[in-house]
Amino acid sequence: MLKQALTQLEDNLSISKTHILTIASRFQEHMEQGLSGNISSLKMFPSYLQAPRGNESGTFLALDFGGSNARAAVVDLKGEGKFLQFNRVVRSLSNPDSGYDLRASDVTGEELFDFLAGIVHKALSVSSFSPVLNSSTSKPVSLGFAFSFPYHQRRIGEGFLLNWGKEIQTSGVVGKDVGQLLSAALRRLGIGNVVRPDAIINDTVAAFLTAAYQDPSVDIASIIGTGHNTCYLEQRAPGFTEPVIINTESGNFSVVPETAYDHSLDQQSNNPGEQLFEKKLSGKYLGELFRQIVLDFFRRGFLGNFAPPACWNHPYAVSSKDMTLILTGEGNHLFPLPEHERYALRRIALLLSKRSARLAAASLIGIIQHLDPHFTKPHTVAIDGSLYEGLPGYAGELTAALSEGLDSNASPVRVKLSAGGTLTGAAIGAALANQPKNL
Ligand code: BGC
Repeated sequence: MLKQALTQLEDNLSISKTHILTIASRFQEHMEQGLSGNISSLKMFPSYLQAPRGNESGTFLALDFGGSNARAAVVDLKGEGKFLQFNRVVRSLSNPDSGYDLRASDVTGEELFDFLAGIVHKALSVSSFSPVLNSSTSKPVSLGFAFSFPYHQRRIGEGFLLNWGKEIQTSGVVGKDVGQLLSAALRRLGIGNVVRPDAIINDTVAAFLTAAYQDPSVDIASIIGTGHNTCYLEQRAPGFTEPVIINTESGNFSVVPETAYDHSLDQQSNNPGEQLFEKKLSGKYLGELFRQIVLDFFRRGFLGNFAPPACWNHPYAVSSKDMTLILTGEGNHLFPLPEHERYALRRIALLLSKRSARLAAASLIGIIQHLDPHFTKPHTVAIDGSLYEGLPGYAGELTAALSEGLDSNASPVRVKLSAGGTLTGAAIGAALANQPKNL
């Protein structure tokens, strides 16, 4: 019975070569509709940033908020693609022991942004900039803010949050300009004249900037972590005379095969009907899909004597990190199981991970087809994120799916890991915003 159930699951989760090609073409269509201002599941937000030259230099503050943690640092851009980060401060948005969770709906935007401003203050106060905190004559320090949620902007210094994702519910932020909210919080903290938020940047764009700062061949960047999204350098964006980095918000792409498990996850989420691609692909949701499938197998009696731990009854109790532990075998002590059932759990984790990698590859092919319909130029895709970096076999599956979907005569597509570039990318964004000729 277990064998049949696994075969059935494999059929349901499999993304064939035909699927890859269809998804790629539909992704390309949605990109082009979004770019030309028509209704599309892809929002195609211009970032108001061009590709860096690699010679940007100076010292900047960087802030990164994208989900469970917030980070700040001082970044010294040295030009020639080189940089140094100092005074990195990392804080979790929640602490179960002291009972706070800044992602909850009873928390206000002011409270969240006061927390973020506090992290910036901390990074600043231990840096060589600290004298500016007590001087009324120093020039303010320019800050780049990587904000990893869908927002629209008309210039680089603003960002109006469209909706939260990744199950965040903090009130009073949707519809507001997060640049203004941050500036107001910095003022409340008494450092409004010391720190100047100059650039609001999506984390994919930050990853792009960091990778392209070091390697000018980069033309696409993707995050495959807690959330998922991809940006690329568009040569002909309507309204721009220069190439501009476009944030596709690909997590919301809607044309994707759906299983009953996906449907149930979506219906129980905070944003049913939205982020359907991300919900099949990213770390926030992969663990939850895994939990729902294992519980279903258990209820249907396919898992012998294995009883999932009681905490598994809570949504999102299983993370993609737990899946990594199951796949590497390091979690054997957490899940004491007979070999047969252990195999089943590993197989379920592998099937979900493989589907995620193949879906991501299909969307990348869609972007490459849009950029270069005859595949005549080389392309470099920079990828960051815990799934791509951490899930065993994930990077290999993604590259294999790319080769499967691309014509064998296609020009080379290089995929490179570009880990941890968000803060540096935010600083590069601030540097670009300060150039006389920014977009
Ligand atoms: C957000 C994107 C972000 C991605 C990766 C998604 O949930 O909508 O803006 O880039 O997560 O963090």
